[in-house]
Amino acid sequence: MRTPLLAGNWKMYKTTGEARELVEGLLHGLGDVSDRKVLVCPPFTALHTVRDLVQGTPIALGAQDVYIEPQGAFTGAISPVMLRDLGCTYVIVGHSERRAIFGEGDDLIGKKVRAALTHDLMPILCVGETKPQRDAGEAETIVVAQVRAALAGMTPDQIARIVIAYEPVWAIGTGDTATPVDAQAMHATIRQTLGELAGTDVAAAINILYGGSVKPDNIDDLMAQPDIDGSLVGGASLKADSFLRIVHFLPTRG
Ligand code: PGA
Repeated sequence: MRTPLLAGNWKMYKTTGEARELVEGLLHGLGDVSDRKVLVCPPFTALHTVRDLVQGTPIALGAQDVYIEPQGAFTGAISPVMLRDLGCTYVIVGHSERRAIFGEGDDLIGKKVRAALTHDLMPILCVGETKPQRDAGEAETIVVAQVRAALAGMTPDQIARIVIAYEPVWAIGTGDTATPVDAQAMHATIRQTLGELAGTDVAAAINILYGGSVKPDNIDDLMAQPDIDGSLVGGASLKADSFLRIVHFLPTRG
């Protein structure tokens, strides 16, 4: 029903030469991936190089952020039109590093989701609680509120074209991944929220990715959970062998 999506978030890593080397390694070991979707999200500066390498291959191209206007006097910003022009079909929106380091709030993140959809980019909306929030028993409340805030006022048709990534902040880059059971519980809560917003049929078709210290040795257990439909991978996506092992997770869900 849902095709798993394995996405690499390269963050602020890889010069153009390094990006080329990584993608060549991925293409070399990719093999048959017809039952899953593979995505890389390089920094803006490597999108052109990577586009030329992945064109006509099973690897899709995404960006890590986008601004909300198609063009204009917005120094330093990159528009959804520019991303489409570079061959992007996905864009990460609302990553916790954008929220925490660059001060992005739910309002701006919601506008970015809309801007992406308007320009035919599939937004990967990131949500997740901090450690103090989880310890206080507020994780579900926080995550549901983030989903509702970003998707407020959107139609079921719009919501159907979104990917959600549940990324507990305390698990990102720490080696401290959520247990498959805890991740599954949150994914089920997110899917229930999507059902309330867009109907159960739409919710059942949406890919909900898990992110936060996903590695070759934990991907299989995570992917065995019924509501985990893929992963947004940071550190382990920077080397071809580790990302390929994640892409080739076992077992395949039917
Ligand atoms: P990580 O990052 O896999 O390095 O924890 C995930 C992310 O931030 O998307």
